[in-house]
Amino acid sequence: MTRRRVTLLGATGSIGRSTLDLIARNPKAFEIEALTAHSSVRELAASAREFGARLAVVADAAHYEALKEALAGSGVEAAAGPEALVEAAKRPADTVVAAIVGAAGLEATLAAVRRGATIVLANKEALVCAGPLMMAAVEEGGARLLPADSEHNAIFQVFEEAQRHAIERIILTASGGPFRTFSLEQMAQVTPAQAIAHPNWQMGAKISVDSATMMNKGLEVIEAHYLFALPEEKIEVLIHPQSVVHSLVGYADGSLLAQLGVPDMRTPLAYCLSWPERMVAPVERLDLAAIGHLAFEPPDEERFPALRLARAALRAGGARPAILNAANEVAVEAFLAGRIAFPRIAAIAEEVLACAPSAAPDSLDELLAADRHARRLAMHHVEQDGG
Ligand SMILES: NC(=O)c1ccc[n+]([C@@H]2O[C@H](COP(=O)([O-])OP(=O)(O)OC[C@H]3O[C@@H](n4cnc5c(N)ncnc54)[C@H](OP(=O)(O)O)[C@@H]3O)[C@@H](O)[C@H]2O)c1
Repeated sequence: MTRRRVTLLGATGSIGRSTLDLIARNPKAFEIEALTAHSSVRELAASAREFGARLAVVADAAHYEALKEALAGSGVEAAAGPEALVEAAKRPADTVVAAIVGAAGLEATLAAVRRGATIVLANKEALVCAGPLMMAAVEEGGARLLPADSEHNAIFQVFEEAQRHAIERIILTASGGPFRTFSLEQMAQVTPAQAIAHPNWQMGAKISVDSATMMNKGLEVIEAHYLFALPEEKIEVLIHPQSVVHSLVGYADGSLLAQLGVPDMRTPLAYCLSWPERMVAPVERLDLAAIGHLAFEPPDEERFPALRLARAALRAGGARPAILNAANEVAVEAFLAGRIAFPRIAAIAEEVLACAPSAAPDSLDELLAADRHARRLAMHHVEQDGG
């Protein structure tokens, strides 16, 4: 494998750390161009020093002085603010790992796409918000989107592009999250601590809550639609509590091809970092005999309405996926802050979607305006809840 220069957007998060762990184990294969964070200055500076990054960026400009101080004498350039984030993405790295959480990662990811980089895409919200824009930019700039999300990575590994005509469906598996067996009444009482305690995966707080509401799977249906150019009705969801079968592709001859592995993001990240080759990942090896059996069940859209909302937003198109995502981000934050009850997350997303304009945004600016408007509306609903 030829040595690759990597920029890591969101270096201090769960995906960021897993990526740095792989890079640390393969110092000959990778070098770091830029690392970014929102406000975790200490961790960012420590990683920038350890990996000899050329640039470190904090998105929250209030932390610029602290970052400069933490990098003093290291030779690492410090920068801050949302524009600096975009500049980091424009730097000449071969690979940009998009691991910021939420729509906050959209502009930087898009900047990397526009200059034709190879993108390791974890930041699904960027694609959910701006799917048509992003895919057009991929086409124009010659970028390559490699899906890091474990389900999409699984599909990418078994999706035979040359046999696209024979692909009948893809099946995204979902653990069902910590409340898979809860009644609606039980879900009304759950706490943020319960919601972020995912049964199989160690992840950041936002995606953990999204897994608990199953909004995560809804966002993934939208993500899969853009990544694999498949209509919504060919994208199925299947509950698989053990998170061993990461997703499947169904072919016309009845074959169902899957990718399996232990639930550890370092497998899909290693796949993307070394693609089209394969590198060693320090993950536990799957022992199917020890697992004994694998369980599957259909999803329940009544207890988990987020899935239905995401499908409806995808079908309606325009700014609706971005509006759904923005409302969800606000509602998740409000839930984590103890301001609203768990079932209100999907309910607020639905209330905001009901007021969504039908016009499709023509530009990134229009899309960002729709995102801001949806956030204000969602915040209004949070406040009405008394939070
Ligand atoms: N974790 C997983 O296993 C997993 C699996 C599949 C997909 N994903 C996707 O990967 C993305 C990252 O997830 P995660 O779990 O790694 O999240 P996380 O642990 O919360 O980390 C988020 C990263 O983004 C940075 N960040 C947060 N807000 C920002 C902002 N406004 N501007 C710039 N940077 C910001 C954070 O910096 P600070 O540390 O300074 O706050 C941190 O580096 C999400 O889109 C998620 O859906 C994650």
